[in-house]
Amino acid sequence: MASNYESNSSSATSVESLLDELPKHKLFDICDIYQWEGFWYESRILEAALVFKSQFIARDDDFILASTVKTGTTWLKALCLSILHGNPDDKNKEEEILKKGSPHMHVPTIESMIFEENRYAIIEGMPSPRLIHTHLPYNFLSDSVKNSKCKIVYITRNPKDTFISWWYFMNSILRPNEEPFPLEKAFDCFSKGVYIHGPFFDHVLRYWNASLEMPERILFLTYEELKIDPTGQVKKLASFLGKSVDEVEVDDILWKCSFERLKNLEVNKNGYVPYNGLLNASFYRKGVIEDSRNYLTPDMEENLSRLCREKFQGSGLDLYLRR
Ligand code: A3P
Repeated sequence: MASNYESNSSSATSVESLLDELPKHKLFDICDIYQWEGFWYESRILEAALVFKSQFIARDDDFILASTVKTGTTWLKALCLSILHGNPDDKNKEEEILKKGSPHMHVPTIESMIFEENRYAIIEGMPSPRLIHTHLPYNFLSDSVKNSKCKIVYITRNPKDTFISWWYFMNSILRPNEEPFPLEKAFDCFSKGVYIHGPFFDHVLRYWNASLEMPERILFLTYEELKIDPTGQVKKLASFLGKSVDEVEVDDILWKCSFERLKNLEVNKNGYVPYNGLLNASFYRKGVIEDSRNYLTPDMEENLSRLCREKFQGSGLDLYLRR
């Protein structure tokens, strides 16, 4: 199986010729992104995603976490790790899984690993039940994922806070020593869906609809619900993952995965995510809801609210909009 992924130099060539045909945009005036079947990708991620779609073999007991960017992925990874691999007795001991490595190290983002030397071997070699993550939209999941019994947990977030979190993050990785990319220009990209793994609304809606069709296989969570009702949401998540947790265990999981604690663990303050080179620390900023109030103009707020109303109309989906 691993050899299938490794022997893809011909697919790399075909992706290069494919890229010439695709709509292209320079994100933040720096990073080329390409539109494929309605969503935007960096070239290496698109190449990896095409291999993932055609070749990834899911196991029935896989847990696949899914999200678009800056919606609480790191938190969800940590929560699932603690639910599946933690216990109250390991509290603050060195063997606690969250002290042994960052959530992104333990739960690989699959399309970031494909084509990196030997990365797939890591995923292939992971013991069951595997806990893996993807930012890819629902239509990019392989038939094997869709046809297997594996479970998917999707997390999303109010698009206003997602946008501000994304703007900060992109500035930190693309323009670390420069003036931030103008908020207005970034907003234009985000609201038009022209950003990595965008459009936001289509990404969310497809997983939402799939979760309605297959609630036993796809759990749909929001960052805001986790903030507002952490105990209820963690119980729901644990039960979906096949673990029963009592009140003491839930409190322990929430404490271990709290923003301040994770942000200050040595493994998250230092170092890089091994497969994509991003700073571990870059995944922790403020960790609150409604921070976008401090940045968005009333017009921007109204623009995103209107888009939400239009895109989610009749879907039953509510993403904690203020207006
Ligand atoms: P902010 O930039 O609004 O602070 P992702 O993990 O999908 O990249 O999302 C990152 C966002 O989640 C950032 O939001 C980050 O601060 C927040 N976050 C990270 N860990 C968290 C945690 N344990 N609890 C709450 N929010 C967290």
